[in-house]
Amino acid sequence: MKKKRIWSCFVLLGLLFLLAGCSDRRIYKIGVSQCSQDDWRMKMNDEINREIMFHEDAVVEIRSADDSNTKQIEDIKYFVENGFDILIVSPNEAAALTPVVKEVYEQGMPVVIFDRNINGNTYTARIGVDDECLGRSAAHYALHILGEGAKAIEIFGLKGSTPAEGRHNGFVKEFEDNGGIILASGPGNWNNEDAMTVVDSLLREYQDVDLIYAHNDRMAIGASEVARRHGRDSIHIIGIDAAPNIGIKAVADSVIDATFLYPTEGHRLIRTALAILKGQPYERETILPVSSAVDLTNADILLLQNETLNEEAGKMRLLKAQIDDYWAKHSSQTSLFYASIAIIILLLGVGFLLLRAFWQRSKHHRELMVQNRLLEEERDKQRILNEQLEAATQSKLIFFTNVSHDLRTPLTLISEPVAQLADADNLTAPQKTLIKIANKNVKILQRLINQILDFRKYENGKLNLRLTEIDFNQAVRDWMESFYSVARKRDIKLTIDGPAANVPMPMAIDTEKIERVFFNLLSNAFKYTPNNGVITVWYEYDNRCLTFKVSDTGEGISERDLGNIFDRFYQVDRIHPKGSGIGLSLAKAFVELHDGTISVESTLNKGSVFTVTIPVRHIAETTITAEKAIGDRDVETELDNIESSLSFDADKPIALIIDDNKDIQKLVGEILDTDYNIITASNGKEGVRMAARYVPDLIVCDVMMPVMDGLECCRHIKNEVSTSHIPVLMLTACSMDEQRVQGYDSGADGYLSKPFNSSVLKSRCSSLIMNRKRIKNLWQSPSSAVPKEETGKSIRKEALPKNDIDSEFYNRFLKILNEGMGNQDLNVDMIASQMGLERSQFYRKIKSLTNYAPVELIRRLRLQRGRELLISTEKTIGEIAYEIGFSTPAYFTKCYRDAYGETPSQVRNTLVK
Ligand code: FRU
Repeated sequence: MKKKRIWSCFVLLGLLFLLAGCSDRRIYKIGVSQCSQDDWRMKMNDEINREIMFHEDAVVEIRSADDSNTKQIEDIKYFVENGFDILIVSPNEAAALTPVVKEVYEQGMPVVIFDRNINGNTYTARIGVDDECLGRSAAHYALHILGEGAKAIEIFGLKGSTPAEGRHNGFVKEFEDNGGIILASGPGNWNNEDAMTVVDSLLREYQDVDLIYAHNDRMAIGASEVARRHGRDSIHIIGIDAAPNIGIKAVADSVIDATFLYPTEGHRLIRTALAILKGQPYERETILPVSSAVDLTNADILLLQNETLNEEAGKMRLLKAQIDDYWAKHSSQTSLFYASIAIIILLLGVGFLLLRAFWQRSKHHRELMVQNRLLEEERDKQRILNEQLEAATQSKLIFFTNVSHDLRTPLTLISEPVAQLADADNLTAPQKTLIKIANKNVKILQRLINQILDFRKYENGKLNLRLTEIDFNQAVRDWMESFYSVARKRDIKLTIDGPAANVPMPMAIDTEKIERVFFNLLSNAFKYTPNNGVITVWYEYDNRCLTFKVSDTGEGISERDLGNIFDRFYQVDRIHPKGSGIGLSLAKAFVELHDGTISVESTLNKGSVFTVTIPVRHIAETTITAEKAIGDRDVETELDNIESSLSFDADKPIALIIDDNKDIQKLVGEILDTDYNIITASNGKEGVRMAARYVPDLIVCDVMMPVMDGLECCRHIKNEVSTSHIPVLMLTACSMDEQRVQGYDSGADGYLSKPFNSSVLKSRCSSLIMNRKRIKNLWQSPSSAVPKEETGKSIRKEALPKNDIDSEFYNRFLKILNEGMGNQDLNVDMIASQMGLERSQFYRKIKSLTNYAPVELIRRLRLQRGRELLISTEKTIGEIAYEIGFSTPAYFTKCYRDAYGETPSQVRNTLVK
């Protein structure tokens, strides 16, 4: 608005300057209508044009009617129609022109009559000459030069024109009154030709003519010529007008005798017209004076004067042209000046506005910069705070993780004695209660620690999804099993609201993780649902999505807490009265790992509904893997990789041939090649390294070798835990008893003299392998290859092999396993590292000693323990599953069914009966 006003001011100012530059001067338009075109009138027109030069505010246009009344009427109308301000008219004939002049005058246009007159006085002003006086002057002059009795003929102007009338009357009266005789009067119509014609005829008629009196010089000159032609040079001729180039010249040239001045006074016409237009005083009737005759006495001087006058007039015209030129220049320069001023002002205005806009913009920019800086500072502060918060959270998590790791082992060591104590028969009832509380809380602690570690894995992106194609309908029903007894105890109505049990719901999920989500939601529901409440597990499934809901009739969650309960460490009393606040966030992590969602709806004092959605996907049958602990699977994969890289045949045992003689190496290799995977070493030291690396099933070793001989090599192998179980067959050229004794002392299992028979070598090798298998069977018995016949007792130490190193190895293995039984993460990797062996060594060692892969052996030992607990305690299946280190009760159930042909529930049911 303000801007608009400023702009308007500038535009107005500019216009004012422009207007000032070209101020609106009034220009008067003067129209002059001449009845004829001749020297007298040309002189008058010159005077008019000269006069107009002095009037900047007036322009004039002169039109000639060429002696035609009609043409003059048209000219007058032209001036009226073209907006002329005043009409100056010399009417050709009074009668013919009077009406149009009257009409114009009466319309309001000023009219100035000059020279010839109209009838009446319908004009604004008139400038004329006393034509009678002129006539009288002419008569007086004629009588003066001719005397009384002079005879004259008169050549008349146009009959209808007023000057002719006056000139006739004045002359006739004066001439006749004073003794002159007028012989005749003929019409000359103001022109030369008519005059000559009429003079010619009159001179023929009258022989004694002394004088010809013509009403104007043109007619007088014509009469002079005719008189000469008639040889009548003595006739005196006088005319009227005294226009310099005609009348005066004719006098000077003695063509005529005298002429009388008929004043033109063109300047007077213009001045009178402008006075009328400008409202200044003027004479309505101006009768110009009549001068004395121009004859030979004064003609030359008058011509000279006229010449001088013309010269001056020329100079004046030149001066006027220059002035006009200067004036035009001045005008254009003035206009340019004003225009420049206007443009400068406009430019200044525009410049000002631009500057103002620039200032405002800069100001605005500065303000924005300040705001931006403040915002950036605020954002930086926020970022730093966030980073600090994140760092604090991370260090908290790292701390928790470290503490969790540290707590795990002692917790395992606590859990086992506590569990055993809980089973003891000789405790008093209060002691039993206390121990049960302790036992239960140890389990809770173990689960929390596992949750923290899992959550840490999730945050570090190390929590992998291990998809397994399962029947979700069946899985839910299995998971629910663990909760029915609690529900019964607390009179909680636990219901399944889903498809019928026989409707398959195949889909690929990480069973362990989704089971834990399910357990978490259901455990929470049990925690917060009062006795006699209702807990419902609802689920449905289509090709795209699985949805399951766990609803309860518990206390509900406040609106304030609803948005945060999935945040890590967020504690809602209702949800985690004493918890870490990590259970639900871990559940959310597990669901999101499946690209699913988890949400909650709740009403205080009415209950809560947790909803989980998971996209349904499937994996190809070939990629379905059996459920395995993460570490176990890695170890086996790695072992497979090692063996496949050596192109081993997995069905054959590995034989290591240690001999410095390449031929012997080759020979023995060829003999054993069909039944064994062959690896070789060139001396004892290399042999020890190879044995430790590959843990072969058999070693054939030469005695005499560089670097390290066979005996020492054998001693190393037998004293090394990873290789102590490997049967060693010594090859030697020596057959002396003492050397055999040395060989056996070093721990060798057999002795073969060189040269040897290939079939003897083969048979000795196979017998050593068989012996080892027998020992293996002995080792297998504690965990039982046929669990159904197991007594349910713990692993028995008396069944262990006699070899000290192997026994000690096995005892240590059992001890580590027993201590870490409840730890789900206790895997082959961890046990191998605690045993001081590499994973592959440990794998082959255990496989050699027991014929079981370590994973399998551990699982069997866990199941055996689980069976003992099922039979001898009242612990729930879930509790037992966690206690013996299974990740989920369902997995425990599955493994148990695979191993013993019945489910843990069935065992329980049988016992109850
Ligand atoms: C010019 C003229 C003059 C004369 C006058 C009379 O047109 O004929 O010679 O004096 O007109 O009106």
